[in-house]
Amino acid sequence: MRVCHLSLTDFRSYPSAEIALEPGVTAFVGPNGHGKTNLVEAIGYVATQSSHRVATDAPLVRHGAERAIVRALVARDERRALVELEINPGRANRARVNRSPVARPREALGLLRTVLFAPEDLALVKGDPSERRRFLDDLLVARAPRFAGVRADYDRVLKQRNTLLRTAAATKGRRRGPRRQDDEAAFSSAGAGDVLSTLDVWDSHLVRHGAELLAARLDLVEALRPLTAKAYATLAPASAAADLEYRTGVKLSTDCGRSRDILEEALRASLAEARQAELERGVTLVGPHRDDLHLALGELPARGYASHGESWSFALALRLAAYDLLRADGGDPVLILDDVFAELDGQRRTRLAEIVAPAEQVLITAAVPDDVPAELAGARFDVTEGSATRVR
Ligand SMILES: Nc1ncnc2c1ncn2[C@@H]1O[C@H](COP(=O)(O)OP(=O)(O)OP(=O)(O)O)[C@@H](O)[C@H]1O
Ligand SMILES: [Mg+2]
Repeated sequence: MRVCHLSLTDFRSYPSAEIALEPGVTAFVGPNGHGKTNLVEAIGYVATQSSHRVATDAPLVRHGAERAIVRALVARDERRALVELEINPGRANRARVNRSPVARPREALGLLRTVLFAPEDLALVKGDPSERRRFLDDLLVARAPRFAGVRADYDRVLKQRNTLLRTAAATKGRRRGPRRQDDEAAFSSAGAGDVLSTLDVWDSHLVRHGAELLAARLDLVEALRPLTAKAYATLAPASAAADLEYRTGVKLSTDCGRSRDILEEALRASLAEARQAELERGVTLVGPHRDDLHLALGELPARGYASHGESWSFALALRLAAYDLLRADGGDPVLILDDVFAELDGQRRTRLAEIVAPAEQVLITAAVPDDVPAELAGARFDVTEGSATRVR
């Protein structure tokens, strides 16, 4: 798979940009702050409809502009797909595929698959569990775009359930202070006495979507485990072995298997157990939104223990494992390496370069040409003062 053409309107620092891309390696080289990452971020956005740098869309729209448009012509074997995304902060985004509007932007997911490596990946190892949950869920969506719907459904139900729990906590008088507006809405629609029966209804929705997400994450982690261990051993052969474990607050019995039905039952039972504490605290205390992907190096957790270099290697290994999985599903994803080589020592630089070189398309950003390893010689754009010019 590859991107043949990228076209931007009011995306980040670019009023407009038209960039023709070829298969193989392309490097974007230029001074700090001149717009290299902005370009590859746009390509990542087409694949995931989110940025690897910011949690909201607003910073993606050029300062002073109302909306941004990103267009990518994607080639997969002989097929071509033109994906167009209109980013409207504060309002619904819109998408078109092959010039036809789609009902929801997420219907345009899956047409482009990328694996993006960036300095921000260090947060996968050092950051909060939410970073690792996002890694897993993004990968689920990349492998099967329908998970974007599962995730959205789960988040929606969770939000509603939390609102209801907050209302219940407030009516019990355990929470002081003014109620929030959405609490009021839930409160009046439910009525104080009905809170518990309404909660049961939300529980069943939460259980259904939650178990689906949980089942998928458990399978995914099992698939990632050996691939991550192998990638880590390649990048850091002298270090202790890397391992992954999905840790959930849902009580899973070890001998009953992990089918959807069993996970639904387990989640239902864990919610029932947590019910009293949830009513007191006004928040949902068990479910995939509280889980974590535990990363270990030998006996020790990576978070809080791994060195800077080890953490980097672990983050790279996770991305490489994701790349392996996506490749095994069929179709080489586009590899994006944003400023990663400058962060690596010579040995890891060479190893990473050798691994990624055979990919159908590799896009690299670097501040100086020397940061692009010799193994990855290819096309080059100079990016200066917000414009990208093909020089090789
Ligand atoms: N929404 C926006 N509107 C206008 N300019 C923006 C917007 N978002 C970012 N910029 C500008 O884009 C520039 C950053 O671009 P980018 O992150 O692509 O740089 P870079 O070339 O990757 O630099 P580095 O080598 O430091 O990583 C900054 O100067 C920033 O002010
Ligand atoms: Mg950059």
